[in-house]
Amino acid sequence: MAKILLKNVRPYGEDEVQVLIDGGVITAIGTELDVNDAESVKDAEVIDAQGKVLLPGLVDMHVHLREPGREDTETIATGSDAAAKGGFTAVFTMANTSPVIDQPFLADAVWEKGQAYGKCDVYPVGAITQGLQGEQLSEIGLMSRGHVRMFSDDGKCVNNPQVMRRAVEYAKAYDVLLAQHAEDHRMTADSVAHEGEVAARLGLGGWPRVAEESVVARDVIMTRDYGGRLHICHASTEGTVELLRWAKSQGIAVSAEVTPHHLLLTDEKLETYDGVFRVNPPLRESRDTVALRDALLDGTVDVVATDHAPHGSEDKCVEFEHAKPGMLGLETSLAIIAKVFVESGLADWRFVAKVMSERPAEILRLADQGRPIAEGEPANLVLVDPGAAWTVHGEELRSKASNTPYEGTEFSTSVALTLLRGEVTYRATPSDTTTSTK
Ligand code: NCD
Ligand code: ZN
Repeated sequence: MAKILLKNVRPYGEDEVQVLIDGGVITAIGTELDVNDAESVKDAEVIDAQGKVLLPGLVDMHVHLREPGREDTETIATGSDAAAKGGFTAVFTMANTSPVIDQPFLADAVWEKGQAYGKCDVYPVGAITQGLQGEQLSEIGLMSRGHVRMFSDDGKCVNNPQVMRRAVEYAKAYDVLLAQHAEDHRMTADSVAHEGEVAARLGLGGWPRVAEESVVARDVIMTRDYGGRLHICHASTEGTVELLRWAKSQGIAVSAEVTPHHLLLTDEKLETYDGVFRVNPPLRESRDTVALRDALLDGTVDVVATDHAPHGSEDKCVEFEHAKPGMLGLETSLAIIAKVFVESGLADWRFVAKVMSERPAEILRLADQGRPIAEGEPANLVLVDPGAAWTVHGEELRSKASNTPYEGTEFSTSVALTLLRGEVTYRATPSDTTTSTK
């Protein structure tokens, strides 16, 4: 097992200390630790962090790793590499694969593959309904006895209220999290963009806010009346924020995530008709991004989740209406959250640790993630360089796919090092930003 001495690191962006990692845990933190004076520090690899920021490893509640079924666009291995490069030590991969993850042996296979590869803990999300068909509940009980702690039909909404009611009751009985992709499909049949002025001008079918908000409203009321724990995937509208604020004020057990792209981008991006900007829910308007930023700051929205959704160029470099929805997120999310909140002065690194690691770990009840940076704690950590500017190029990302909406964008913050149980899963080298990996 690796023994590492991180010199001159700033936990949460605060005062510089030395951190010793041994046997997968943080064994010592201090200002005096030196490789020459203490027996315990002998043989450690010394990494001079030069004031870089140390955070608990990031946890992503919402990714799509496409295995099984679309290994041409992402696999558990390439997705784990992308996650490690993004600073993540645990991710939850959605059930909308082929086959759908709706039985225990399929969920077990995802978990085992992630563990065998070893770059990131890959937790399988179980489907709520068999085959994501929205009709028959899947084996929620059996799957919850294995590695599944969250259930979602993500990609599709559980539209039928009676099916959702049963799911809420089951999830309560098994004490698992239900994550809803809130979209009333009856309102979005031909929708490819946010319903508003931009879509009208560009002649694109509109996806109205109410298609999301009506489901959020229904599901928080179900949770109020039938119990359990509800999570709202990719909250995207001002109205969803208002509903969440109300629900939380009532003490309803609901949590919510927002994606980096819904915090940063608006439907103005659609002017070029570039399919890379097609995503579900769609990019909305600036009043929504403002409301979502405020909601994340005040805790109404709990966490950032990337909704990392790899697609091949044959599905993205086509007419906007025919492009598959979804965009990459794992390798750019920390840079975006740093830009929107830290570089702008709206929040500090403690906030980033909270929304990208501590809260997701808490919601999913992960005992070994999102932990304090303290002696005796597991060494699931990310070293962040707030001053290492880099330019995004889809072809250079670790992900097997290239569908990033940030092609050519320069960000200031990058990941220098990621540690999973004390082992290095990603280490930045100068070539990371210059050499193509595919
Ligand atoms: C996701 C996908 O590609 O699987 N697409 C997307 O636009 N977000 C599904 C989803 O999260 O809804
Ligand atoms: Zn979704």
